Amino acid sequence: MNTSQRIFFNEVATRDGFQIEPGFIPTDDKIALVDALSDCGYAKIEVTSFTSPKAIPMLRDAEEVMGRIRRVPGVEYTVLVPNLRGAERALESRADELNLVMSVSETHNLANLRMPREKSFAALSDVIRHVDGGTPINVSLSCSFGCPMEGDVPFTEVLRWAERFAGLGVRGLTLCDTTGMAHPAQVSRMAEALQQRFSDLQLTMHFHNTRGMGLANVLAAVQSGITRLDGSLGGLGGCPYAPGASGNVSSEDAIHMLDAMGYDIGIDLTKLLAVARQLPALVGHDVPGQVARAGRISELHAPPAFVQALRAAQA
Ligand code: COA
Ligand code: ZN
Repeated sequence: MNTSQRIFFNEVATRDGFQIEPGFIPTDDKIALVDALSDCGYAKIEVTSFTSPKAIPMLRDAEEVMGRIRRVPGVEYTVLVPNLRGAERALESRADELNLVMSVSETHNLANLRMPREKSFAALSDVIRHVDGGTPINVSLSCSFGCPMEGDVPFTEVLRWAERFAGLGVRGLTLCDTTGMAHPAQVSRMAEALQQRFSDLQLTMHFHNTRGMGLANVLAAVQSGITRLDGSLGGLGGCPYAPGASGNVSSEDAIHMLDAMGYDIGIDLTKLLAVARQLPALVGHDVPGQVARAGRISELHAPPAFVQALRAAQA
């Protein structure tokens, strides 16, 4: 096991998480959360999305959030962008990266972006030409590990879209398991094949814990050489246009696991857990993340008093 490789985490709670929350999270709270996350040591934070406010009303305050967050040097502030209009808004907001999105599943693309994949590709190609190298571009490929409506997505399809975007000069690709259909063997196979083909691209994996395989998939990815991962504080998240979608893999649970194994993630877990523990009050409900509740494995409990008595009796 090679634990010397630095792991880079991208926190997506304020985008993937908040986009599906039933109640609107007040703008001040979003900003305070991003600022608190900025102090934890993340490589990247996906702050919000510049989508249609009718489609994603929860993130209708994207400009204000991007305008008022504190930018910590060394942290990249990225945003999700579905089209040219979104890209223009993102550039005006001085995003460090544009995360373009389309689905490798035709049906999910129609549901999420209301157009066939070919039309999405043409629109996103326009965005990439428009940005013209001024800001790095990442492309997130939704449903890369399976589609809740179509089922299996052949790996050749994922590769085909990845190749087309690589040909346009993007900096990175994120393989998204939008509804938690990936399993570790599939993750390892894809991780190895993609790294071989795209050795010069930043490759990120984005897992949801819909079927409890999130952490296993994170581990499979990392052990197959992937160094960039998305996670969502508390395990919030889900795509509003994917039936049965549920939370992302919890950032703090994944980081806690990798930290315990000896990986260098650059994240202050004590600070991160303190932020995670404020999340239920912020969103008004329990969240699935486990380590914030249980504490780190290094947080020990005092033994019951009778254990002392038993020890004393034996001495
Ligand atoms: N920012 C702000 N407004 C936008 C916009 C953007 N990026 N893109 C479109 N709009 C507005 C248009 O101005 C139009 O407004 P109007 O009705 O007041 O005239 C309306 O949205 C519809 O525009 P149209 O071009 O017809 O888009 P659409 O209805 O086909 O929607 C998307 C396409 C992709 C913009 C929209 O479905 C969307 O934002 N989806 C969200 C996808 C997403 O984030 N999913 C979850 C994450 S994977
Ligand atoms: Zn997601």
